[in-house]
Amino acid sequence: MSTNNCCCCGQVDERDEKLQEIIKKHKETKGALIPVLHEAQELYGYLPIEVQKMVAEGLGVSLSEVYGVVTFYTQFSLNPKGKYKIQVCMGTACYVKGAGQILDKLKEKLGLDVDQCSEDGLFSLEACRCIGACGLAPVITVNEDVYGRIGPDDVEGIIKKYKE
Ligand code: FES
Repeated sequence: MSTNNCCCCGQVDERDEKLQEIIKKHKETKGALIPVLHEAQELYGYLPIEVQKMVAEGLGVSLSEVYGVVTFYTQFSLNPKGKYKIQVCMGTACYVKGAGQILDKLKEKLGLDVDQCSEDGLFSLEACRCIGACGLAPVITVNEDVYGRIGPDDVEGIIKKYKE
């Protein structure tokens, strides 16, 4: 089974070795793919294509099957997440109350696009579907914190809180 060597020092990423152990642990179990992907995501923080390849190879399934599962379930991510994961609800109630402007302001202030993570690893930005807090629309979340009835002018203050 292959592992990823660092492009500059050639060292093996020890998470790759842990992933091989995870695969081994689940390999004989029926329906192993989803639990393996969950543990892989815990390990790496997201599921880049190299990790998906290792999972496919280790479990003897096709890469397209792995990719299909990763992209179908919203709990899996193809992109790295920041320490603070900002989600902007783009559900109907939030959208009509200006979620688009809030998202634009976040993009501008963070210098990020949707599904990107800042270089220092502090923030990642996502757009999501209704989170069930429509009465507070428009809503954004930062990890477990919920901010409702906000406007574009509140964005800077919210970001500042997490930078400090
Ligand atoms: S539409 Fe945003 S919380 Fe429901």
